[in-house]
Amino acid sequence: MARKPIVVGNWKMNKTIAETKAFVAAVDDKLNDKADWGIATPYLDLPAAKEAKHLIVAAEDMHFKDSGAYTGAVSAAMLKEIGVDWTILGHSERRQYFGETDETVNLKMLQALKNGINPIVCVGESEAQYDAGETHDVVKTQVVAAYKDVAKEDVEKTVIAYEPIWAIGTGKTATNEIAQDVCGYIRSVVAELYGQETADKVRIQYGGSVKPNTIKELLAQPDIDGALVGGASLKEDSYLAMVAAL
Ligand code: G3P
Repeated sequence: MARKPIVVGNWKMNKTIAETKAFVAAVDDKLNDKADWGIATPYLDLPAAKEAKHLIVAAEDMHFKDSGAYTGAVSAAMLKEIGVDWTILGHSERRQYFGETDETVNLKMLQALKNGINPIVCVGESEAQYDAGETHDVVKTQVVAAYKDVAKEDVEKTVIAYEPIWAIGTGKTATNEIAQDVCGYIRSVVAELYGQETADKVRIQYGGSVKPNTIKELLAQPDIDGALVGGASLKEDSYLAMVAAL
């Protein structure tokens, strides 16, 4: 079935408000309808990013509680108030540096969906796990945990990003074959949980050193419905080169 690709730049801890405004001014009216195009930005940049008319704007994380004594955290309601209805959840950098677990990712999934925010949930194995042949087991555990108690009718609002940790920021892109194999496997896990019809509606992105010269072939794979892009999403010309490549 036809799924519209979704390509989101994950800016991580990069760009000021002024730089965000310049990016939006340079990119927003040069997109095409080959994909849903977006950026995930630091919280402070979100209002400037929301000046875009076409780009999807996502947060990079959010808290799983409604409000309360969670110093430094941002809630779903705060995001919704400024019109942000997408967020990345469970990125491997959050898992590695900020103590994110499968359990908190699941709580955030439920909180996002309850508040009308579409989650892009990240899964992926480390280099050691890849070398040990554990990739399928690792991503299955992460997907099953992330979707615990998620209602079937909400599943198509979610996006899954397969990001092998060994390919993030390393210049080592997974081959098209590896990326397709794992994304196809992830879809089969969603089918086990929710049935094939639902699995066929979920968009699955690949992330990890995606570049303007690799994006088209990756997205041509049958189970890869988009990309989550770090480094190559930061510069206006590189982002637009991805737009032109599709
Ligand atoms: O979320 C995107 C990311 O982790 C990949 O980063 O720089 O390898 O494209 P990069």
